Amino acid sequence: MQHDKILIVDFGSQVTQLIARRVREEGVYSEIVPYQKADAAFAAMRPKGVILSGGPSSVLEPGAPLPPAGLYEAGVPILGICYGEQAMATQLGGEVEAGHHREFGRAEVQVSADCQLFDGIWHTGEKYPVWMSHGDRVTRVPDGFQVVATSPNAPIAVIADETRRFYGTQFHLEVMHTPHGALLLRNFVRKVVGCQGDWTMRTFKEEAIEKIRAQVGTGRVICGLSGGVDSAVAAVLLHEAIGNQLTCVFVDHGLLRRGEAKRVIAMFRGSYNIPLVHVQARDRFVEALTGVVDPEDKRKIIGKAFVDVFEEEAKKLGGADFLAQGTLYPDVIESVSPTGGPSVTIKSHHNVGGLPERMNMKLVEPLRELFKDEVRALGRELGLPDVFVGRHPFPGPGLAIRCPGEITAEKLEILRYADEIYIEEIRRAGLYDDIWQAFAVLLPVKTVGVMGDGRTYEHVLALRAVTSTDGMTADFYPFDMKFLGHVATRIINEVKGVNRVVYDITSKPPGTIEWE
Ligand code: XMP
Repeated sequence: MQHDKILIVDFGSQVTQLIARRVREEGVYSEIVPYQKADAAFAAMRPKGVILSGGPSSVLEPGAPLPPAGLYEAGVPILGICYGEQAMATQLGGEVEAGHHREFGRAEVQVSADCQLFDGIWHTGEKYPVWMSHGDRVTRVPDGFQVVATSPNAPIAVIADETRRFYGTQFHLEVMHTPHGALLLRNFVRKVVGCQGDWTMRTFKEEAIEKIRAQVGTGRVICGLSGGVDSAVAAVLLHEAIGNQLTCVFVDHGLLRRGEAKRVIAMFRGSYNIPLVHVQARDRFVEALTGVVDPEDKRKIIGKAFVDVFEEEAKKLGGADFLAQGTLYPDVIESVSPTGGPSVTIKSHHNVGGLPERMNMKLVEPLRELFKDEVRALGRELGLPDVFVGRHPFPGPGLAIRCPGEITAEKLEILRYADEIYIEEIRRAGLYDDIWQAFAVLLPVKTVGVMGDGRTYEHVLALRAVTSTDGMTADFYPFDMKFLGHVATRIINEVKGVNRVVYDITSKPPGTIEWE
């Protein structure tokens, strides 16, 4: 079945992904492409409408990025947001100027005329809050356009050409701080473009199953399970598509949380009857990590050992034609880097990359079009239990990166126990789903305490909990002090080896979510 599609042309805004999410929330499939590839993407995708994102450039600079001029001749509606509006205005004969008062944050626009973008939401003469972030602004509208909203610092805040169905907003309507932004975007995709809104998780699932069957044929597929949501959803989807052509491999590296291995195995073997190889490789990993303290060394050792174990198991199974991975859309979007250059490696993430070439396997990545929250919705659609689907993310290198310094079996045991108490209390307080990720970190520092009449000299444990939408930025979770006090008391009373608990109040940036 052909669904209506929206093409989002990216000019490097920090919030371009939010445009795609908002459009998809309307049941309309959308894809982001960098502006350099907009022409080819338009031809391949044949979208019903186009959105031009914001971005850090100025159209007044020589060589500023611009959408292909042909887009304006294609007969499809176009919405330009912030930089996208300025690019459209410039290309169609309007004028943009710099050097005005820069405007960042909350602002108010006043509607000066009706248009289809505002239909039923914004009314002439009324004022509405919006989120601005711009230095340049449009100062003359191109022929055919009309100013439909103004703001004190951007007298041309929204422009509309109702004949060609081109719209431009100086403010960002994709962010939560523009309260009616999602409704305006709905008007654009539903009323202006006329999309059906028929892209649901059920249709996604059915089509994904067809695609997997077409790609895999009678080939054999192996899928690495990490215990996390993404690989589990990919595995269950593949199993529905190709049944026993799929074998899952679960490598227990001994760096998992308490009871995790058992839970994963019970679910896959017990509830789903999916062929599963459980590899007990704890000693191998702990041995390889002995004496290692540098975070990047740890990550690389774990990544390498993981791939080695996986390869051995794949060979034992007689090889496979395909390797399945739970790659998500944020990992594949080729966004325009705001700095224009390659970004530095903050942390080496571990996966089984490199293995397909070594073993001559092809990749199956059935989730590569989805955002994390969409994967959760797909998991529910596939019947995975809510408690599993709603789990916090867990990093591939596991507890090794939550145990700064050298790892020992004893430290891991202390950390597992403390982490279990912390998560249990968060669930009990009904906070689990409000938090993006929560975990404990065992510090390589001992402090003096007093318990009963005796002196103690034990480890410090740090608690971390953050809110986030995608893990790229995060803020610490503002627990009630009473809650933290209660958790600290429980941990110190119950976990031998910890006599002090601290709470991490660092956001990301400047911190990262994990400690290593
Ligand atoms: P950081 O610590 O970079 O983490 O702020 C962002 C998110 O990514 C997770 N994370 C990983 N996930 N393999 C993974 O699959 C890794 O190597 C890895 N390192 C960090 C982290 O838990 C957080 O959700």
